[in-house]
Parts: sequence; structure tokens; C-alpha cells
Amino acid sequence: MGADDNAQHTAVIGLQWGDEGKGKVVDRLASHHDTIVRYNGGANAGHTIVVDGQRYAMHLIPSGILTPDKMCVIGNGVVVDPVTLLEEMDTLRERGVKAENLRLSSRAHVVMPWHQALDHALEQQLAGRSTDSSLGTTGRGIGPCYADKVTRSTAVRFVDLLDRAALRTKLSVTCDMQNARLSAMAWDGEPFDPITIADEYAGHGERLAPHITDTTYLLHDQIAAGKRLLFEGANACLLDVDHGTYPYVTSSNCSALGIPAGTGLPGRTVDHVIGVVKAYSTRVGAGPFPTELDDQIGNRLRERGHEYGTTTGRPRRCGWLDLVAVRYSAMISGATSLAVMLFDVLAGFDELKICTAYEIDGTRTDRFLPDATLLSRVMPVYETLPGFETEIDSVTRRDDLPADARAYLARIEEITGLPIELVSVGPDRVQTCVG
Ligand code: IMP
Repeated sequence: MGADDNAQHTAVIGLQWGDEGKGKVVDRLASHHDTIVRYNGGANAGHTIVVDGQRYAMHLIPSGILTPDKMCVIGNGVVVDPVTLLEEMDTLRERGVKAENLRLSSRAHVVMPWHQALDHALEQQLAGRSTDSSLGTTGRGIGPCYADKVTRSTAVRFVDLLDRAALRTKLSVTCDMQNARLSAMAWDGEPFDPITIADEYAGHGERLAPHITDTTYLLHDQIAAGKRLLFEGANACLLDVDHGTYPYVTSSNCSALGIPAGTGLPGRTVDHVIGVVKAYSTRVGAGPFPTELDDQIGNRLRERGHEYGTTTGRPRRCGWLDLVAVRYSAMISGATSLAVMLFDVLAGFDELKICTAYEIDGTRTDRFLPDATLLSRVMPVYETLPGFETEIDSVTRRDDLPADARAYLARIEEITGLPIELVSVGPDRVQTCVG
């Protein structure tokens, strides 16, 4: 597959608010690459892949693990809950998938149990106020772990799990601080005991030790040896902490901009960026969503698309495709082509709408407004296209799609100025149209 088969290193980046189907694209591309790399986020992401009718839901391990003999790397920019990681490795092993080729950065930060507690406690505090300003996080401790990374003195990295005595000393201070923070937030759980936690997490370190390494040198060595790298973005551009709809974002640079910092590779490394776009829009958690449909059409998209979170099971908010947002995300990520996912979900609608501009205070603009307050005030300007009646879930060539379906794709290409190199028409690997 590929509009750019000569490209050496590829990135797969979600251009909306997540859940675009990046896992399937990565799984498909993995066989053309040697090494699959995660660079951001943590277990807040949920990548679902269906192979031979078997469904794999992964949060931390790169989706490329399902392709034999590929090296999978979790870079320094990822925040990793070792309990979830070990569970994923065990589940894969039970299903005959070995995780021997998994490498984890010694500099990646560890999501500790107090990070999840802080995530919940903070959200509860914010939701309990007269004006609810909670973010609707996944509760996986992502924000508090990244906050500690920047705070430095209370952070734990994977290298720290490899020395039990030093970890006990470190956690005696850290636990005091975290327990104090939690009690100030009226958290009602038991205080964390440093010795118990240090021993438990040193145990996780022992199990993970064969995988823990300096992934920065590893990746540079791979490039020097002529290997092809595939970068798997987690979450998505509009959730990027610097460029998304702040504060309704996650805590990492989940656009392609996170790749250099999250791996230790220079910014010029990637020469092929596939922007992954769902054929409509969804969002989980709070925050502005200009094309949201709080009606029968939104419900129909949710049911046809099984739009319930992989990580939290929450129903996703659904709406029409927003190409103002997609163009912005493609711009900041340097997308060179698109993959359009869940296209089969759109079959059977009389008409389809695409948002091509916004109106704010009587002015029309085709520029995205990442400022959440401004974005919550825009009105979407739609272009209406005819729908297509027939189900398309067994079509494997773009030319064989109904004419109205082809016209919808052609319009996306025209408005974004990017070629669509893959169209997904169902969850299975084979339900894909190329060409
Ligand atoms: P956090 O990443 O758990 O802190 O959540 C912050 C916001 O990002 C919430 O609105 C989440 O629902 C959203 N979010 C984080 N990761 C994903 C993802 O992979 N898909 C969709 N939404 C996500």
C-alpha cells in the first residue's frame, strides 16, 4: 500500500479527536516496515485491530506487535502503566503472540497508582463545583504522570524500577508528597505505603527488565542499518496539549510534532505522514465540537459505528465530518496523504454533510480555532452531498464503490488537497479499499 512506497519512515497520525482507526492502518503498514514506534500518550489510547475475526484491543503495545518479527518500541515520550503493559503482554502471549521484540525506553515515565487516584480526585473536585469544569479524562493517570515528569522531583522512570533499594528511598519522599496532595483533595482511599509500592513496582521492573533499554540509540542504530520505521501516534492532533482544543486535550504532543521529543530522533526523520480521518467526527469527554449532532443522525452514527470508548466504554459524541479541523491537523502534522476510516458507517443516509468553513460573529472563516472558548461559539458551514444506499463493507477497490461514495471521497481530496491512499469499509484487515 502507499501513495509513497519509496518513503523510508512513515507516521500514522489521527487528525481528529482520536479513535479514527489508526491501529488498523498501522497493522496494515507494519509488514512494510521493520520497527513500529509509540512516542506519546499512554493507556488512554485504545487501538483495536481485528485479524481473522479475532479482536485485539491494545492500549500501550504498538499495534505492529501482531505482525511477526517486527520490533516494537515504546519511546521515552510515552507514560507507561507497567500493570497494564504486563497484562497486555500476558494476554497476547495467551493468544500466541510473543512480545519478545518489545523495547521500552528506560527514560519513559511510570504511571504510578497515585497518578490514577489524582486523576479521579481532581476530576471529582472539578465536577462537584457549581460550574463543572472537569475534562472527562480517561482516568488512566496520564495528566498527573506528565505533570510529575515536568515537576521532576516526584517522577518515576523505568530506570528507577531496576534498583529496588534506590526506589524505596525515592518513594519514601514521593509517597509523602502524593499522599498529602490526595488528602487535600478529599480523596478517601488508603495512603500509599512506600515500601509496599516500591517492592511491587521493583517486581514489575524485574519482569520488564529484558525489554528496558536506551531506545534513542536503538532507533538511531536502526536507521543507520537501513531499517524502516513506522511511528504510531496515539490520541490525535486535536487533543495535542499545545495545538489542540486546550484545555480539553490530553497531556502530550500527540500530533506528529511529538515524534522528535518522544523518541530522540530529529524532526526531519519522517518523510511520509498518513493522516487518519474517520469519515465523520467523534469526540469523547468534554470540549467544543462544532459539527456535533445531538439527534437521530448522531445516534445512528453511534450505533452503526459502535462508537463506545475502547478504554472507558463511554458513548462517543458523534457528528458530521469537519474538514476545517482536518485541514488544520494535516497542516500541523505535515500530512502527505489520508486514510479514510469507517466509511461503511455512512451507507444508508439520504444525504451527507461536510463542514467546509465556520461562521463566528457574522464572519466566515476556513481556519480552525483551537481556542476552546472561540471554537464553542462557531457555527459550522456545511456542503451537502448525496448519500449512498448500498452497503460497501465487502468492496475492496475504490473504483467499485457506488458513484456517490466516490464523489464524497473525491470532495475530501479536493478540499484537503491530499490524496486518499486507503479507505476502510469494516473492522477486519481485509475490509479495505486501495487504488
Ligand atoms: P486523558 O488523556 O485521560 O487525560 O483525557 C483527556 C481528554 O482526552 C479526555 O477528553 C479523553 O476522553 C480524551 N482522550 C484521551 N485519549 C484519547 C483517545 O485515544 N481517544 C479519544 N479521546 C481521548
